[in-house]
Amino acid sequence: MKNLLDGIQNTLLLGAGPSGVAPSTYYALSRSTLGHLDPYFIKIMDELKDGLRTLMGTQNLLTVPMSGTGSIGMEASFVNLIEHGDKVLVLQNGVFGTRMVDVASRLGAEVTELKFEWGTPVVVDQVAEALKKDNYKIVAVVMAETSTGVSNPVAEIGQLLKGTDTLYLVDAVTSMGGMPMELDAWGVDVCYSGSQKCLSCPPGASPITFSDRAVQVLNNRKTPVPNWYLDMSLLTKYWGGNTRVYHHTPPINMFYGLYQAVHNILEEGPEQVYARHQAAHTRLVAGIEAMGWEMLVDEGYRLPMLNAVVVPEGVDEAALRRKLLNDYGIEVSSGLGALAGKIIRIGLMGYNAQDYNVDRLLDAMKEIVG
Ligand SMILES: Cc1ncc(COP(=O)(O)O)c(C=O)c1O
Repeated sequence: MKNLLDGIQNTLLLGAGPSGVAPSTYYALSRSTLGHLDPYFIKIMDELKDGLRTLMGTQNLLTVPMSGTGSIGMEASFVNLIEHGDKVLVLQNGVFGTRMVDVASRLGAEVTELKFEWGTPVVVDQVAEALKKDNYKIVAVVMAETSTGVSNPVAEIGQLLKGTDTLYLVDAVTSMGGMPMELDAWGVDVCYSGSQKCLSCPPGASPITFSDRAVQVLNNRKTPVPNWYLDMSLLTKYWGGNTRVYHHTPPINMFYGLYQAVHNILEEGPEQVYARHQAAHTRLVAGIEAMGWEMLVDEGYRLPMLNAVVVPEGVDEAALRRKLLNDYGIEVSSGLGALAGKIIRIGLMGYNAQDYNVDRLLDAMKEIVG
């Protein structure tokens, strides 16, 4: 039969995601599909759970990939824990914080939004003040705010919550696989990610983890989880124990891909992988500043994997991105929300976080803007 996709060009993905995929992961994705209860697949599931725990820095028993993109992790985190009228504090300094507010509000939570200027990090003292004023069931924050390139102080916020009943919920969609994660040490109860950023797998799987404390809250709900597909108490019967019970048919090949992608990071060594991200970021920043351009975020709060670059007056950012894609085969991303038209976002994620990719991008940008 005719192959329909031969026309797809090999684009260098240096945007906000998806990122590049290693050949070994493409190979894994193309292996024969097994049944969802096949013993070989169950072995893959168990090893994948272990790998996710290692990268997340947690011992949580309930650590699995969800079927879906990063947003499914966000939905699952909130839907399993919120009951009508629960108080939730969202620390918001970008688009994905605003999305948390939306998701939690739709579930009937009483949401307080503590806002910080986009491009700056969450201020821990202000969080401490907010926590004095009210008791929250959940405090939620985005670790790596993809819309601005800001790294939030996840460990320090966790310190404020230690010894309280408040559950700590962290979005690690962009950070996981690109910077250290120590969820247990930080006191994080619920955390989710996505396959298509620093994990370097195509979009479609969302690692998620719940602490024992969070599982207890889930088990003690007064009302059922209002979403059948995302109910972790049902899903765990498929993902754990000696007898696996069908819940839904998972995207088998997607999980092969994630299994390989996680293995690739563990084989290279997580510390080496994080250092590679940092080195590529440092090289990019030096190149951007040598062009006379500026980073949006102050040094000290910059993410290595997501670089928000301010587009100087007189440069048409949409035209720049179009030319990079059409003439050089490189994708970078536009700004989101209030930052649309003002910045470009350069992703150095996973497999593509390499000095030679930084050089290729900088050379292309210099040729375009002269
Ligand atoms: C921080 C963050 N959270 C959540 C999401 C949503 O993930 P997805 O687009 O995979 O559903 C993204 C996607 O870019 C993200 O960057």
